[in-house]
Amino acid sequence: MLKQPSQKYKAFTPVSLPNREWPNRTLSQPPIWCSVDLRDGNQALPVPMNVGQKLELFQTLVRIGFKEIEVGFPSASNTEFTFNRRLIEENRAPADVWLQVLVQAREDLIDRTVESLVGAKRAVIHLYNSTSPAQRRVVFGMSKAEILKVAVRGAQMIKDRLPRLRGTDVRLQYSPESFSATEVEFAREVSEAVMEIWQPTPEQKMILNLPDTVEVAMPNVYADQIEWICRNIKNRESLTISLHTHNDRSTGTAATELGMLAGADRVEGTLFGNGERTGNLDLVTVALNLYMHGIDPGLDLSNLNEIREIYERCTGMTVPARHPYAGELVFTAFSGSHQDAIKKGLAEWNSAKRTHWDVPYLTIDPNDIGRQYREVIRVNGQSGKGGVAYLLESEFGIMLPKEMQREFGPIANDEVDRLGREVSGAELKEMFWREYIDRSSPWQLQGFQTESSNGTVRCQARLLRSGESIVLKGEGNGPLAALVHGFGTIGVPRFEIAYYSEHALGEGEEASAIAYIQVKDREGRARWGAGVDTNIELASVRAVLSALNRI
Ligand code: KIV
Ligand code: ZN
Repeated sequence: MLKQPSQKYKAFTPVSLPNREWPNRTLSQPPIWCSVDLRDGNQALPVPMNVGQKLELFQTLVRIGFKEIEVGFPSASNTEFTFNRRLIEENRAPADVWLQVLVQAREDLIDRTVESLVGAKRAVIHLYNSTSPAQRRVVFGMSKAEILKVAVRGAQMIKDRLPRLRGTDVRLQYSPESFSATEVEFAREVSEAVMEIWQPTPEQKMILNLPDTVEVAMPNVYADQIEWICRNIKNRESLTISLHTHNDRSTGTAATELGMLAGADRVEGTLFGNGERTGNLDLVTVALNLYMHGIDPGLDLSNLNEIREIYERCTGMTVPARHPYAGELVFTAFSGSHQDAIKKGLAEWNSAKRTHWDVPYLTIDPNDIGRQYREVIRVNGQSGKGGVAYLLESEFGIMLPKEMQREFGPIANDEVDRLGREVSGAELKEMFWREYIDRSSPWQLQGFQTESSNGTVRCQARLLRSGESIVLKGEGNGPLAALVHGFGTIGVPRFEIAYYSEHALGEGEEASAIAYIQVKDREGRARWGAGVDTNIELASVRAVLSALNRI
């Protein structure tokens, strides 16, 4: 990289709009949506979709609720043309869906495009030519006046051919391609020249699409450009102002949302942002951003997993794991504090104490879009005791006492950290067994009997201490008290049992019990132990030995 990038690159000069109004506005309704998956998205695929894949994606777009779908560039290839014809001849487009087609300002291409639409119920013919200084200079070698002429000629050619589409409800769309890199005055001049030919009215509007073909500036600059056009173009009321952003600076969504504030009526984009280079605008993100503010986007994304599957199958692209709303991991919390907060937030939500969603770390309820909160609990080095305890309980029915979770959580985390990866519930159980259940040094149980009379329990325990046999006898008001007393008689420093609980593990003949015990020494230092046995009394004795073995 250059030490002085200014020698090679310069900042974009923004339009002057000191009295801009868009920053003071808020969004209250969805835009008109137009999917360009089958055109802009498709043209950017390493392997473009075949007709079958385009049909499947088209049907999915219709099911989601798109009423305007750019279905292709029918003059570009036979596949594109055939696809259009199949949609029309096989009556695949519902009567309220507009089939949009893109075309350049060339006579042969316009003829073929019009031919591809014969018999359609509703069609949008989308004409474009590039208007930016770089395109004028490098690609076309044309002056502004010549570029304007290209647009006007194209508009006229389309107008002249409209009688061929008798019976089709036709709308016209013009894009000054590379709009955001074009001088706004010139973009206006070209657009007004096209309007002059097409003569839109408030009843029969034309679509003026203002592409951020390549993001060249911050999203506020694009918003200023949109507001400038909305305020300065003639017959604004006869136009549907449309946005078409790409994502080169990773701000396509922001540019679209600010462009909507700036007065746009319509938004073009693709599912999950597929498209040239860094992609087109992701329509799903903008729609769900509106949804999370309580605005019905008018698109049905309630089965987002299925939409993602179809998208991935048809396009061969994958939705990244961190992609907003749709990514594999976006409803998964790895950090313990996040897990804890989500758990509490969901508990509050499920107790119906709130009318409006306000769960920490979850911008929307994953269930609303067919996703599962179940994905949230996973354990890695960043997880807290909550995640560890959840997995042990949900997968193995091991219900660690709260305080014991505080002891085992960090032990498990250290181990997961050492492994440097996510661990399964089974691995966590193994860690638990290693730490508490399987410890046999210095103390190991060989046998334990009790008898009681007059409220006093007497025990006899056969133990190994570091491999040496010991028989210990004690008495107390219960088996554990007797055991503790017995340890005192063989010189083990005094300790007391500060906590005890147990529960069954599994059911039926194989059922065993697990006991949890906390012992405290004379200084109040605590240690947890756990024991498993088919006999509940033996499980608790093993738990005491487990705790002593951990001191
Ligand atoms: O990005 C773009 O400018 C386009 C136009 C053809 C609308 O895709
Ligand atoms: Zn584009």
